[in-house]
Amino acid sequence: MENSIVILDFGSQYTQLIARRIRELGVYSEIYPYNHNLDEIKALNPAGLILSGGPSSVYDEDAPVISKDIFKFGVPVLGICYGMQLISYLLGGKVERSHKREYGRAIFCIEHCCTPLLKGVKNHSVVWMSHGDTVVKLPDGFEVTAATEKDIDGDAGDKGSIAVIENQDKNIYAVQFHPEVAHTEEGTSILSNFLFDICKAEKNWSMQNFIDEEIRILREKCEGKKVVLGVSGGVDSTTLAVLVQRALGDKVMAVFVNNGVLRMDEEKRVLFNLCERLKLKIRYVDASELFLERLHKIENPEEKRKIIGKTFVEVFFSALEKFDFLVQGTLYPDVIESAPVKGPSRTIKTHHNRVSEIEKLEKEGRIIEPFRYLFKDEVRKVAKLLDIPDDILNRHPFPGPGLAVRIIGEITQENLAILREADKIFIDTLKESGWYDKVWQAFCVFLPVKSVGVMGDERAYGNVIALRAVTSVDGMTANRAELPYTLLDEIGNTIIRRIKEVNRVVYDITSKPPATIEWE
Ligand code: XMP
Repeated sequence: MENSIVILDFGSQYTQLIARRIRELGVYSEIYPYNHNLDEIKALNPAGLILSGGPSSVYDEDAPVISKDIFKFGVPVLGICYGMQLISYLLGGKVERSHKREYGRAIFCIEHCCTPLLKGVKNHSVVWMSHGDTVVKLPDGFEVTAATEKDIDGDAGDKGSIAVIENQDKNIYAVQFHPEVAHTEEGTSILSNFLFDICKAEKNWSMQNFIDEEIRILREKCEGKKVVLGVSGGVDSTTLAVLVQRALGDKVMAVFVNNGVLRMDEEKRVLFNLCERLKLKIRYVDASELFLERLHKIENPEEKRKIIGKTFVEVFFSALEKFDFLVQGTLYPDVIESAPVKGPSRTIKTHHNRVSEIEKLEKEGRIIEPFRYLFKDEVRKVAKLLDIPDDILNRHPFPGPGLAVRIIGEITQENLAILREADKIFIDTLKESGWYDKVWQAFCVFLPVKSVGVMGDERAYGNVIALRAVTSVDGMTANRAELPYTLLDEIGNTIIRRIKEVNRVVYDITSKPPATIEWE
C-alpha cells in the first residue's frame, strides 16, 4: 500500500467516486470506514490520506470523529467537505451551521495562487458544493487559499464561503467543495496536485498491471489445484472466466446453469460466446425444470429470489466433482457495502445471497476473489485488455433471477413465452436502430393484468407488456431513456402484431429513485 491513497469514509454518497477518480489518475486507492483501527491504517504506510465528506455536522452528538493522531502519521492529509470541517474542528478552528445550505454550483475564487493544491488550477471555475456547515475560524497555521464567490443560483449569499484551506508546513489541506464530482471543473487538477505534488505518489495503477499481478497470484496459489467458477454470460463472470483460464488453463471448470428464466435462446448465445468465441471450457447444466417447479405459484419477489439463489447453489455444487478453490466475481462496491459507516443499510432487494456453502468455503480459505478491489468500470477495462469482443462487453446487465422478476406475480410457461418474444422484439429493434448502446438497460415486463381492446373489429381482452429503458452510470440511480416516439410506436406495433395474447404496450417513465430499475 506504500504508493496508495487511503480514504476514510464518513458516509458521503461520493466516497466511492473519490477512489475511482484517484485510480483513474493512476494511483491505487482504498476506502476504509472512519472508525477503522488507526494503527492498522498507519501500518499500511499510504502516500496520503483523504477524509471524505459525510452527512453529519461535527457538533452532532453521534458525529463520526477520529483521533487527532492521524495528523502525526507524517503523511499528507486532504479533507473534503465534512472532512474539512472535521480537520478544522479537531485542530481548534470553528465550524458553524450556515444560515443557508450551500448546495449545487458555486464559483471558486482563488486568493493565493500557486499553492501546492491549487497550482495550475483555473480561477473562477465552477465547483460543486453540498453542505450545511461552514468553517468560520481557521485552526492555527492554516490560510484560506480560495473562497466561493456568490453562488450562481444565489443560494450562498453575497459573501460565499471558505472553499480551500492549506497548512503547507504540516501538509494538511482541505476543500469545502467536492473535487471528485464531474461538475467541479478543476476537480481532477486539484486531486492530481494532491497525489503527485503533495503526496509524491507514483502513477503505477493500471489495469494491465492488475492483470499481470492477478495472473501471477492465481498461478502461485492454484498451481496443480482444481479451480471452479460459475458463469452467466454477463460481463463480470465472463471476464473473470477468461482471466482465470488464461492464468490456469485446463484446470479450471466454468459452470453455466440454465435456471429456466433466461431470455429467448440465451443459453445458445452464451454457450456460443463462451465456448466458440472465447474458447472457454464450460460445463452446461440445464436445470430449468427444477427451477420452474420450485417457482410454481410463487408471487412474492423476495421469495422468487431466495428460491432461485438457493436452487442455484444446490445445482451448481452438485455439478462439480471435488475441487480446491471456488473463484467468485465479488466487486469492490459489494465489499464496501458490507462495511458501512453506520449500521447495515436496509435491504431493498436481496441481490447477493449469503449462503452457508459459500461461508463454509470462505472459512476454509477456498474462495478466491480476483475482482474484490475493482470497480465495475475497471472490470470493463480488464475485459477490453483481455480482448473480449465489444458485443459481449456492452451487453446490458441481466439480473441473476432473470425473467422471474420481470413477470409480475406468477410465473407460467405461457407468460414466459410471451415475455421472451416481446423482449426479443424490443431488444432487436433497439439494436437495429442504434439505441441499444445508448441505454444502460432495456427490457420488457409482463404485467398480471388484462385490458380491453379492439382488434380486427372484435373486442379483445389481452395482456399488457411494459417497456423499460433507462440510462444510468452504475445502476444506483437511473433515468428513463428518451426513446423517440416513432421507435416506441414501431416496437409497440410489432409486439401486438406478432404476439396474439398482447393487446397493450406501455412505456415506464419513472426514474430511480423513486422506482427501481426492475419492477420486482
Ligand atoms: P434495481 O431493480 O435494484 O436494479 O434498481 C439495479 C440493477 O441490479 C440488477 N438487479 C439484480 N441483479 N440479482 C442480480 O444479479 C438481482 O436479484 C437483481 N435485482 C436487480 C438490475 O437488473 C439492475 O441492473
